[in-house]
Amino acid sequence: MDAAARVLELSETIPDFPKPGIVFRDLTPAFADPTTFRAVVDELAHSIDGGFDVVAGIEARGFLLASALAYSTNTHLLAIRKEGKLPGDVIREEYALEYGTAALELKPSSIPARSRVLVVDDVLATGGSCLAAARLIERAGSDIAGFGIVMALDGLGGVEALTGYELRVLLHEP
Ligand code: ADE
Repeated sequence: MDAAARVLELSETIPDFPKPGIVFRDLTPAFADPTTFRAVVDELAHSIDGGFDVVAGIEARGFLLASALAYSTNTHLLAIRKEGKLPGDVIREEYALEYGTAALELKPSSIPARSRVLVVDDVLATGGSCLAAARLIERAGSDIAGFGIVMALDGLGGVEALTGYELRVLLHEP
């Protein structure tokens, strides 16, 4: 079984979470399974043409992927955090998400100059958080090597929103 099939089998679907009308896809049971998590990380590690020298995880579930990827590819690890979590000089970008609005922050001093950054997250919905992450990274003077996503929720516009960027999605779900 490949990584996508394993994720589909082990992930859980929770209706009306965290708000009525949202169908929440919980991939953490798939990440908890060692064979599946290794397969996911290995596929994302080889997903981007031209490679990358920084892996950025979007808080919070993106951190699970980013730290394993940075370790396995021996690259720099970058945390893109929700607002108010990072001390010192930060830059901030707001975005709309599937269930509300939020902001992400980045410490420009935490990213080496002119890096090629792979941005990872577990689920792609509207693409708002990925685009906010891209704006932060580009404002900090680096380039997006691509996005690595485990599951894209088709119909919410995320794949279309990331047109123009390299995008690797392991699994598309309706
Ligand atoms: N992030 C945004 N929308 C989501 C959803 N439906 N399930 C899991 N994570 C999400």
